[in-house]
Amino acid sequence: MSQNLINQINDLKKRLDVTVVAHFYQRDEVFEMGDITGDSLELAKRTLEDSSKFVVFCGVGFMGQSVKILSPHKRVIMPKLACCSMARMIDGSYFEESVEAMVTAGVDIDNILPITYINSNAEVKAKVGKMGGMVCTSSNAKIIIEAALKEGKKILFVPDRCLGQNIAIQMGLKSAVIGIDGDIASADIICFDGFCSVHQLFSVDDIEFYRQKYDGIKIVVHPECDPAVCAKADFVGSTSQIISYIKELDEEQKVAVGTEFNLVNRLRDKNTFVLSSTKPECPTMNETTLQDLYDALKSIEDNNPINEIEIDEQTRIWAKVALDRMLEL
Ligand code: 13P
Ligand code: SF4
Repeated sequence: MSQNLINQINDLKKRLDVTVVAHFYQRDEVFEMGDITGDSLELAKRTLEDSSKFVVFCGVGFMGQSVKILSPHKRVIMPKLACCSMARMIDGSYFEESVEAMVTAGVDIDNILPITYINSNAEVKAKVGKMGGMVCTSSNAKIIIEAALKEGKKILFVPDRCLGQNIAIQMGLKSAVIGIDGDIASADIICFDGFCSVHQLFSVDDIEFYRQKYDGIKIVVHPECDPAVCAKADFVGSTSQIISYIKELDEEQKVAVGTEFNLVNRLRDKNTFVLSSTKPECPTMNETTLQDLYDALKSIEDNNPINEIEIDEQTRIWAKVALDRMLEL
């Protein structure tokens, strides 16, 4: 890795009124440049408290959008406009079709409370906000769903089917997947059929392989994994929760981890393994390189910022309503 490029990035960071933000799934060399690092909830919260004029966000599109939604006065630049493949599975019209599917199944529209996983675009968040709903992340999904259920409504959960089903199982609730599985009219949580292609890689066979190989091994997975995989794990949590869980384990405890490769690789030692026979890399998270980060910072210095996040004001206002409801909880 070019030390020269790293030095140039550090020099630009010193000269500019900028904060570099990086998600755990970024490549190591990019992650190490982050002034703020963390999971999606931490990044949303900590960037809100940050005072720099520019945020350079190393992650995927919905994360940069969340900063812009919450802090419109900030200029949010993304070294690469990479889009999470799950977030791309739903847009405003698919969201409306999902509401219609519930109405067709006999649910009164006033009895639907939508919740969108933060891995969705601003348009979807805005539609959720307008219908009285809110955003959740993988670290707070259970708390958000518990609060939502107090309204006595049926939950439309988008876009991640697995996260919705996993929470339903944890809470002893009934779930259905629109157009795929289950009875919408009798379910408590009705999920859109979106998923993360990276987390679908982990299988029950992988878990059995590790359990047979190492007696007493712990299996840790992200809640975007299939419910059958989560059911067989010892711990299910967001990226930050996974890191904290592993740090608390005895040094000699073996553990196999089912989440994105860059994060697991940073934790890897003689007792920590990747829970997959194929490399579980998120292609879009991996798009951002050090050179892209340098180019983004240089474009700010040259007064011609590249890849700036812009959101139509009406969409932003309603998306903020949905995000604020989450942050209040
Ligand atoms: P976290 O909320 O755990 O950061 O996860 C984001 C994500 O995209 C997982 O695939
Ligand atoms: Fe999206 Fe999956 Fe990548 Fe996370 S790991 S950013 S959910 S594609």
